[in-house]
Amino acid sequence: MLTSHELRKKYLEFFSNKGHKIIDSASLIPENDPTTLFTSAGMQPMIPYLLGESHPNGKRIANSQKCFRTQDIDEVGDNRHTTFFEMLGNWSLGDYFKQEQVGWMFDFLINEIHLDPQNLYITCFAGKKELGLARDDESAKFWQEKFKSLGINAEIIDDPKENGLQNGKIFYYGENKNWWSRAGVPNNMPIGEPGGGDSEMFWDFGENLGKHEKSIWKDKPCHPNCDCGRFVEIGNNVFMEYIKTKTGFEKLKNKNIDFGGGLERIASALQNDPDIFEIDLFLKAKKRLELLSGRKYGVNAEETFAFRVILDHLRASMFLIADGAIPSNKDQGYFTRRLLRRAIRFGVKLGIQNKFTAEIVKEYIKEYKNDYLELSNKQEFILSELEKEEDQFRKTLEKGLKEFERMSFDKKIDGTESFSLFSTYGFPYEMTEELAKEKNLKISKKEFDEEMAKHQNLSRTGANQKFKGGLADMGEESKKLHTVTHLLHFALRRVLGDHVEQKGSNITAERLRFDFSHPDKMTDEEKQKVEDLVNAVINQDVPITCGEMTVAQAKSAGAIGLFGDKYGEKVKVYTIGEFSKEICGGPHVVNTSELGHFKIKKEEASSAGVRRIKAVLE
Ligand code: SER
Repeated sequence: MLTSHELRKKYLEFFSNKGHKIIDSASLIPENDPTTLFTSAGMQPMIPYLLGESHPNGKRIANSQKCFRTQDIDEVGDNRHTTFFEMLGNWSLGDYFKQEQVGWMFDFLINEIHLDPQNLYITCFAGKKELGLARDDESAKFWQEKFKSLGINAEIIDDPKENGLQNGKIFYYGENKNWWSRAGVPNNMPIGEPGGGDSEMFWDFGENLGKHEKSIWKDKPCHPNCDCGRFVEIGNNVFMEYIKTKTGFEKLKNKNIDFGGGLERIASALQNDPDIFEIDLFLKAKKRLELLSGRKYGVNAEETFAFRVILDHLRASMFLIADGAIPSNKDQGYFTRRLLRRAIRFGVKLGIQNKFTAEIVKEYIKEYKNDYLELSNKQEFILSELEKEEDQFRKTLEKGLKEFERMSFDKKIDGTESFSLFSTYGFPYEMTEELAKEKNLKISKKEFDEEMAKHQNLSRTGANQKFKGGLADMGEESKKLHTVTHLLHFALRRVLGDHVEQKGSNITAERLRFDFSHPDKMTDEEKQKVEDLVNAVINQDVPITCGEMTVAQAKSAGAIGLFGDKYGEKVKVYTIGEFSKEICGGPHVVNTSELGHFKIKKEEASSAGVRRIKAVLE
């Protein structure tokens, strides 16, 4: 049977043979995207191109993207949810459309990796008349033809929710299931957001779900979207052709394809075992965990749950730390901390007495290092961050658990108590909540937040706004701040020296934040010089131009920016007169005259040797 690494390779080769340029996975921490803390779908870095910007690598792109979904943290423990996963993706940016996509997907799954077509089920968009969105009869027909070519009579079913499978293969569902946008259903989408109907592929694992899983059979009778666990979605073909407007929907400039499929889920379909934690990627880490705990995976339901939490959370933490999300109390780092501390608590539950997280992650690094070079390059850093966090948390965990036991006599954990578990013993709120649930105790997030606000802590970081996942604004204000970030970068190099390099950037509609290498605090005079220089360029009404070239060409043209490992790929280079030339995905304003007045609000240390500037346009 194929290994997961072979499966990834086969997918990329398949689409490369169909004229796709294979690009690297983007970081789990999005650059210049204020709308979200993490990359949670392969299409996220593709948004500007789906909206019509030209992609430097052409109209056919594919990759395997590292993804992290915070909303799945609490689901982890069952047989199919993970927070980190790899999404196999292919995109047509105004090139091929439904017929090719459906045909290729079928060929890939059935002829290339040899899944049994009898177990493959398809869903299509039923349309929404009120919004002028038509039913997707075309995709249904294309799928039907593919099944027919193998002698399978694939019936199309209109009402699976009411009447179940009815011996069908292709099923229509409404906007809740077969419409995709970053914001969900059409009514929730902000103006300017792209979306479209989609067609999903499901694998039928059969009615026997494995000895630790309970089939819920929520809706009866069973159908692909009933969530009982029998059918698992393995891929989603989104037909990105609409944009939300003030009055409804318009067609985007291009008809696009956005395909995303879970590597791990396809691998579990290949082995025909619905337990995703049984695939090869987890094997080494699982063996190690069995050795360290003296327990066996899969023997008892409670321990199996603990195994899954640990296996998922430590794999995710490894990738997060490698991309810069080191454990902390805010922003992305808060999630790494939450994952690690939860994994450590479940390790203790499994009876592990000593530090173990680095031991498990070493196994994951062995598993992944050929495909994700950052893991071997940063091995020491990753392991030392794990050790630090585990040392710190283990010091207070035992006392904190005792304290929790004492508190639980009252049948309720109140705000001061959950806050004290957080501030004194390092228990993330979610951990206390989970402990409370295990003991049937009441607990309130609101009370915790109120207590936190009193202590002027987390709630002021701005992280909370982003935790809501709001798709605030990718509009004009952030575009301006993005352009002025390039000017700031230029001015810092001019005033402080060429050792200044970008270390991070984050833009919201209100402000820019720029991290750069520089050993000392900036003087008032230096700050003034930087501001003056940026404003001088703004006042010269300089046009911004964009060119596409290879990384080598960009380098020899003197462009700065994040080159990463992307040597083979074409990149965009944005030039602002003679002042700035940077590799960047865009978008940018067309002339500096649009920018207004630049002002530095704050200059502070970010980490050792790295300074941080927050600035605004007035
Ligand atoms: N954007 C879709 C998803 O995330 C397909 O890539 O499922």
